[in-house]
Amino acid sequence: ADNKIYRASTTAPVNIAVIKYWGKRDPKLNLPTNSSLSVTLSQSDLRTHTTASCSPKYTCDSLLLNGSPQDVSGARTQACFRELRALRKKLEAENFSLPPLSTYPLKIVSENNFPTAAGLASSAAGFAALVRAIANLYELPSTPTELSKIARQGSGSACRSLFGGYVGWDKGTAVDGSDSVAFEVAPASHWPNMRAVILVVSAAKKGVSSTTGMQTTVATSSLFPARANETVPKRMKEMENAIKNKDFETFGKVTMRDSNSFHATCLDTEPPIFYLNDVSRAAIKIVEGINCAAGKTIAAYTFDAGPNAVIYYLEEHENEVAGLFKAMMGEKEGWEGARGKAVQANHEAM
Ligand code: PMV
Repeated sequence: ADNKIYRASTTAPVNIAVIKYWGKRDPKLNLPTNSSLSVTLSQSDLRTHTTASCSPKYTCDSLLLNGSPQDVSGARTQACFRELRALRKKLEAENFSLPPLSTYPLKIVSENNFPTAAGLASSAAGFAALVRAIANLYELPSTPTELSKIARQGSGSACRSLFGGYVGWDKGTAVDGSDSVAFEVAPASHWPNMRAVILVVSAAKKGVSSTTGMQTTVATSSLFPARANETVPKRMKEMENAIKNKDFETFGKVTMRDSNSFHATCLDTEPPIFYLNDVSRAAIKIVEGINCAAGKTIAAYTFDAGPNAVIYYLEEHENEVAGLFKAMMGEKEGWEGARGKAVQANHEAM
């Protein structure tokens, strides 16, 4: 009998949206109410490393994250396993000499090179790495776009981590989600001097999960329809053009306005959702101060479903932006230790 262990490894980086995904039109398939756009960070900064293996010796599917066992029975993980197994099954049906890996239990071992509890977007890198590791294990000929459709079902934002550089996620219109996929806006090498500094304001887990938050916002916010139907479609075009033209002023302004628009719909949700706190707001003030002193937009903040700030800037403004943040955090009380730890993240050609 086949007693072998089949194995494949991969990594996937974290991505941070500059046009936010917020709202599901289909919660089961993770189909969004609006398109979104993100910057994928460099592999050397924040990433998940995943090894997928399968064997007839294993007794059940399992997932280990940073050494601790995770529940794999959830609908999202199950959807990813099911779709990948179905693709493998097709290959096996076409080629009888292939071992029947689709029938073997899977063992997934993932490690983040950043603290999972830091409130950073770990699910995006996590599901992207999980999907790509299994696709490699199964030797699937799938493109990143095809895999993005599967990763999306694990965590919406994960579909964007299948690509490096500047990445869009088209909301699509099909009810089965077949056209709700990630696409490359530009490779990292197109605008390689983009940098990000991440201010870890709180290492605590999110107060309101993104799934719950999105559902409540869609159901109750009166600002939400305008954001999804008018504001975001316009900004997607502005952002794509800004990236194509390497126009940081527009990139930065649209990034900040879109983060604020997303958090405004959160505040407009019933009951209201507060992701930003006093430290987040202080970070916004500092970025405003930096841009005011420079006489133009050289720094851009953005916040996901938590208080941590991600600040984008160009390498040539390292001192004015990242340098200043580090100096302030080192000297000012309240910016030290757990309340404000800076994680430098590069964005370089992959
Ligand atoms: O992928 P999810 O379900 O964790 O949602 C992510 C939502 C935001 O991070 C707030 C925005 C985004 O586009 O990444």
